[in-house]
Amino acid sequence: MRPSLILALASQVVAAGIQLPLVLPSTSSPAESSASKALVTSEALQGDIDVKNLLERANHLYELAKLSEGEYSHPTRVIGSKGHIATIDYIYSTIASLGDYYTITNQTFDAVVGNVFESRLVLDGQVPKSASAMSLTPPTYKKQPESGPLVLVENDGCEQVDYPANVHGSIALIRRGTCTFGDKSALAGKAGAVAAVIYNSGEGSLSGTLGVPSQYHIATFGLSSEESGPYIEQLKSGKTVSASAYIDSIVEKIETVNIIAQTNGGDSENCVMLGAHSDSVAEGPGINDDGSGSLTLLEVATQLTKYGVNNCVRFGWWAGEEEGLLGSDYYVAMLSQEENAKIRLFMDYDMLASPNYANQVYDATNEANPTGSQELRDLYIEYYLSNDQNYTLIPFDGRSDYDAFIKHGIPGGGIAAGAEGVKTKEEAEMFGGTAGEWFDPCYHQLCDTVDNLNLKAWELNSKLVAHSVASFATSFKGFPERSTMQSEAHMAVSNWHGPKLVM
Ligand SMILES: *[C@@H]1O[C@H](CO)[C@@H](O)[C@H](O)[C@H]1NC(C)=O
Ligand SMILES: *[C@@H]1O[C@H](CO)[C@@H](O)[C@H](O)[C@H]1NC(C)=O
Ligand SMILES: [Zn+2]
Repeated sequence: MRPSLILALASQVVAAGIQLPLVLPSTSSPAESSASKALVTSEALQGDIDVKNLLERANHLYELAKLSEGEYSHPTRVIGSKGHIATIDYIYSTIASLGDYYTITNQTFDAVVGNVFESRLVLDGQVPKSASAMSLTPPTYKKQPESGPLVLVENDGCEQVDYPANVHGSIALIRRGTCTFGDKSALAGKAGAVAAVIYNSGEGSLSGTLGVPSQYHIATFGLSSEESGPYIEQLKSGKTVSASAYIDSIVEKIETVNIIAQTNGGDSENCVMLGAHSDSVAEGPGINDDGSGSLTLLEVATQLTKYGVNNCVRFGWWAGEEEGLLGSDYYVAMLSQEENAKIRLFMDYDMLASPNYANQVYDATNEANPTGSQELRDLYIEYYLSNDQNYTLIPFDGRSDYDAFIKHGIPGGGIAAGAEGVKTKEEAEMFGGTAGEWFDPCYHQLCDTVDNLNLKAWELNSKLVAHSVASFATSFKGFPERSTMQSEAHMAVSNWHGPKLVM
């Protein structure tokens, strides 16, 4: 696995964040403010989307990513980096320059940043190819190699009794499943293991994150089921397998910021909210993921100021999405019941310009999600159909910032142009592009630059974002009223919480 910078929210250790609402000085007379402007229409706002503006913003964003080169030796906008701080400044100053149309809020919160510098696992004298250090793993003791026999943990290793006494001083081998990687690492730590190896129960290698740090976490690796098989057999037949584990890593606390901008015009009891994430992974500049979504929101927010709105429009730029939806989780957790109820729906825009794109709509149904999610899904479908475009439905399973909203009773949905999924032959017929390749072959890599953007997809999807904003800014007629704060479906357990596996 590539060495990576990894972070997660330390919600347990963190008290409340600071919320600083800032009403900007008025730069236009009241007569020019939203109320006296012509009501926005979908057609007008779509017409204001110019791909040249988007591209100009993308070039600027790449320059900002380069500010991290000193520290990371390549462009990145990972939280805590100069590139991310500059991204936050850029979003803030762009909205601030629009005068009194919006109220901007900085929402600061604590996150944990980790970095794995080096790691090595040796089993029976061999280095398994699929072994990789988990994100947010602590180092081995004193950042030195630890050795001891490999000891097989019983069941899925989710109960303390699954850990036999001889795990003490040993390297624990644990099957994936039932509880999170973080839980397994902590239980192994409590049992006195010096390191843990979690092997995949399905096919392929296993990389994931330990999530919220715990004092009991120990150095933890993922391993494929194929490579773990022979060792498990040896252990089951009573043989000893020698092992050595080494991880050099750090895990440290930092502060980062969500930026929220809300129209001063429109009914503030009834808001349409949309969001994108301002951060990238450490490995690259993240111009498609999620520069594309962030910049589309910025451009739509800019163009919207020409018009009046009936309902409030609220934009969110989340930080720490790549580390496990930190910013959006924090934002929704901080909402009072009263504030929660003002958000009629949330629209997630993460990756809108993938080079080998598909028009993907999250398959958010009302059975499994807060009522209204399906009406939103259908608005996207109708848009693609009425523009003579094909679309596909993709799982709505917790991999992006809509997760906290739907878990707290707010209808949600969104579109994407595709990440590391492989395009099928059928999809190549529907959207063009190359079958057998990822939708975004530069997903989470250094090559996610301006050249990685498909401008045709970006323009179409940005117009769709404009359409979605204009539709709900005008009226919620026919859109379900908000109901309770919680809906059962969201208690369902998912292997994902953001882009990394947690279980
Ligand atoms: C909010 O954040 C922006 C961007 O970093 C900064 O320029 C501004 O001063 C902050 N405002 C407040 C009130 O903290
Ligand atoms: C939609 O998909 C069909 C194949 O299923 C294809 O023939 C058609 O050209 C596609 N439409 C567009 C606009 O790409
Ligand atoms: Zn993303």
